[in-house]
Amino acid sequence: MTHTLLRGRLLSFLRAPQDLSDSGSYLYESDGALLIKDGLIVACGAYDKVSPHAPADAVTVDHRPHLIMPGFIDMHLHFPQMQVIASYAANLLEWLNTYTFPEECRFVESDHAQRIATHFYDELVRHGTTTAVAYCSVHKTSADAFFAEALRRSMRMIGGKVMMDRNAPQGLLDTPQMGYDETRQIIADWHGKARCHVAITPRFAITSTPAQMEATQALAREFPDLHIQTHLSENHDEIKFTCELYPEAIDYTDIYARYGLLGDKTLFGHCIHLSDREADAMSEAGSVAVHCPTSNLFLGSGLFPLKALARREKPVRIGVATDIGGGSSYSMLRTMDEAYKIQQLLGERLNPLESYYHITLGNARSLSLADRIGTLDVGSDADIVVLNAAATPAMALKMEVVKTLPEELFLLQTMGDDRAIVETYVAGVAAKSAI
Ligand code: GUN
Ligand code: ZN
Repeated sequence: MTHTLLRGRLLSFLRAPQDLSDSGSYLYESDGALLIKDGLIVACGAYDKVSPHAPADAVTVDHRPHLIMPGFIDMHLHFPQMQVIASYAANLLEWLNTYTFPEECRFVESDHAQRIATHFYDELVRHGTTTAVAYCSVHKTSADAFFAEALRRSMRMIGGKVMMDRNAPQGLLDTPQMGYDETRQIIADWHGKARCHVAITPRFAITSTPAQMEATQALAREFPDLHIQTHLSENHDEIKFTCELYPEAIDYTDIYARYGLLGDKTLFGHCIHLSDREADAMSEAGSVAVHCPTSNLFLGSGLFPLKALARREKPVRIGVATDIGGGSSYSMLRTMDEAYKIQQLLGERLNPLESYYHITLGNARSLSLADRIGTLDVGSDADIVVLNAAATPAMALKMEVVKTLPEELFLLQTMGDDRAIVETYVAGVAAKSAI
């Protein structure tokens, strides 16, 4: 395969930034280059240093003056909810019962699942997202469609068939045995194939009987390397109902702990209203709280205490995500704009360096995948996004007075969306312009 040389301004995080002046937390090359071969980054640095290593037949793409960053990572969204987005509901449980569950029933049809999968990946790529962690529907057909499309596009994707056996329409229920057997089959068919990862996916405690939670525990024991994803502490009515269903547990988090689901590969969506005890338990287990700001505001679920959870004596690992279709944008830029505003309302500051850390290296670390994605390090997957902070007339006007990199990043986060994504490279291949 030929080499590709991308030229532009490079930005890649090395660690979590302490504050806005923490220039040691990232690598920045004002005239940089990435050399890519066979889907991997083989050189990264100043253009003058990297370009001599490019063979004569390398394809050069000059992205100056744009920013070249690792592709964005979305840690929680629902593939069967593309037509649920923008549904008018008072709160989480009404939204689930009125719109979400009926819509997910349609994914029993593999034609429908395949059609939506195509749109799903198109939207991710259009928004600069190169890895996402998705819930499929309860139907095996939906997981098969999801992974077949990931394979076709060579994307590093994590996903799982939802397990749910109560408190939902009949067309959306499996059984403990069926959920176990089908998840096992999906693992056998897809996990480790190209860049596909299967996650064990009990939807949340409300829709799983104790017997299904036991089946989930059995899967987690059998496949300890797999991610587990579920929902936790999103909405006050949800928390109350959940605790009524599991009266023996001391709180919502304890339900998952009792079934062995509290570990360092577990991704808990939302975690807005955790008690100190729950946050301690999450921290001790190394579990990840996944913040979904546009969803939390859209459904009126609450204000996630991101900064407070991260600076605890026992800090909680954090991820950030869109939560389509409770979330209202596919863009990780829009997502961090809303995350910023939530911290403002809590009297906290989330600086732009932290935002871009979270959507790249931060999320990669929270997935235990930082050796593959989330940076521009040599040896990493060549999943890359190219950003233009002057993408619209209004952004271009503001750019005239922008003087520093953090100011530019903040502008991109505050005003940017898919229009600011110049190109998305998946395994070294331009994918956005190919849509
Ligand atoms: N809790 C259980 N299922 C869901 C879902 O699909 N979306 C959100 N936001 N919360 C959930
Ligand atoms: Zn969700």
